[in-house]
Amino acid sequence: MSPARTIVVGITGGIAAYKAVNVVRAFVLLGHDVHVVATPAALRFVGRPTLEAISRNRVHSDLYEGVAEVRHVAIGQGADLIVVAPATANSIAKLAAGLADDLLGNTILASTAPLVIAPAMHTEMWNNAATVANIAILRARGVTIVGPGVGQLTGTDSGSGRMEEPDTIVARALCVLDESVNDGQPVGQVQDLAGRRVLISAGGTREPLDPVRFLGNRSSGKQGVALAAAAAARGASVTLVAAHLEVAPPVGIDVRTVSTAAQLQDAVTEASHEADVIIMAAAVADYRPATVQTGKIKKDQVGQTLTLELVRNPDILSGLAASRRQGQIIIGFAAETEEDADALIAVGREKIRRKGCDYLVLNRVGWTTGFTTDDNAVVVLDVRGAIVKDASGTKMSVANSILDVIAHTTISD
Ligand code: CTP
Repeated sequence: MSPARTIVVGITGGIAAYKAVNVVRAFVLLGHDVHVVATPAALRFVGRPTLEAISRNRVHSDLYEGVAEVRHVAIGQGADLIVVAPATANSIAKLAAGLADDLLGNTILASTAPLVIAPAMHTEMWNNAATVANIAILRARGVTIVGPGVGQLTGTDSGSGRMEEPDTIVARALCVLDESVNDGQPVGQVQDLAGRRVLISAGGTREPLDPVRFLGNRSSGKQGVALAAAAAARGASVTLVAAHLEVAPPVGIDVRTVSTAAQLQDAVTEASHEADVIIMAAAVADYRPATVQTGKIKKDQVGQTLTLELVRNPDILSGLAASRRQGQIIIGFAAETEEDADALIAVGREKIRRKGCDYLVLNRVGWTTGFTTDDNAVVVLDVRGAIVKDASGTKMSVANSILDVIAHTTISD
C-alpha cells in the first residue's frame, strides 16, 4: 500500500453527494488522512455527522470559520491530492472561472496538488455548450475528469451524467496521486492514449423491412459509449460510429450516425484509414431482408404466415482485420449465450481465430444480462486465445480495463 497522504475530498451540492461518503470511506480505509470540504449545498444532501464519522476529521464548509488559522488557504496548501465528487455543473463552471466565493474554491485555488473531479449532472447539463467549454478548460489545465458514467439518472431518465462509481473514482485518483508523488510534482490525467486515434462502433444496427419496420437487436450502445468516453479522457482522438444508441454519446468527439449494417460498414471503413485502434463494439445484423418493401406490408395481402427472405451482410470486422494497416490494433466483441464458463471461452477462441482480430472482448448475455444494464463482466482474449483481462463492474470501469490492454499494446508487424 502507498504511504498515507493528505487527501481533500470536495463535495458539492448534487444528489450524488450521498455516494461521496463511499469515496471518503475508501480513502480512509486505505490509510489516508482525509479532509472533507463540503459546500453548504452539499450538506443539504448529506449530513455533517456522517462525513465527520467516516472521514475521522472535522468537516469544513464555512469560509469564515477558522479565519485566524487562515484555513481558506491552509487546507489546500496541505493537500497531496484534491478530489471533487460529485462536481456539479455549477461547481465546474466556478472552477473553470477560478472563482473563490466559497471554502472549496479557495482551497483549490490555494493548492498545487493534482485535482480530480467526478462530474454529476443531467445529460442536458453535461452536453450544454457552457459545460463542454468548462470541461475543456479544466482538461487543458491538467485536471483529471473521471466519468461521468452512463446510466440511470435521478429521475426516471438515463444517459450520460451519472457520477462514476466510488471505486472507479478512488482508483483513478490514486493513480494520479501515485504519479504525482513519483514525479515529485503534480501531474494531471493519465494520458496514456494521447496521440492515438481510436475508432469505436457502438449500438445496434437496424435492417428495414418496409418504411415502418426493421429487424434489430437489443444493444443499447452503453459499453461502446463508455469506451469512447474513457478513451477521450485518456487523451485519444476518438471517432464513434453510432447505431441507434440509447444513451447520449460523449461530447467533444467525432460522432457519425448510421442505421444499417451497410451504412456502418461504409462509415467504419472510411474512418479506419485514419485509425490506430479499431474497436467493433456494435452489434451488427448478420442478415438483412432481401428486398425492402416501398410501402407498408399489409396483413390482408400476406395471409396467415409471413416468410422473410434474408441475405447475409458482410462481416465488417473480418474485412477490417484482413485489410489492416501495419500497426493497427483491431478489437472485436462477442456476446454469447453459453451458460458454462469454459464453453464460453471456447466459443471466444474459435471466434477470434475466425475473425482475425488482435483481441476479442467476450461476455455472456441472456434475456436479462449484458445488453441494457449499467454493469458488465468481460474477459479479453488475445490472438492466441489466452485470457489477458478479466474485468467486471460499471461499463465505464470495464471500458478502462479494456483500454488498459490497448494502452500497453504495440503491434509491429
Ligand atoms: N461483426 C461485424 N460484422 C457483422 C457481424 C458482426 O463486424 N456482420 C462484428 C461485431 O461488431 C463484433 C464481432 O463481429 O465485434 C462479433 O460479432 P458476433 O455477432 O458475435 O459475430 P458473428 O460473426 O455474428 O458470429 P456468430 O454468428 O457465430 O455469432
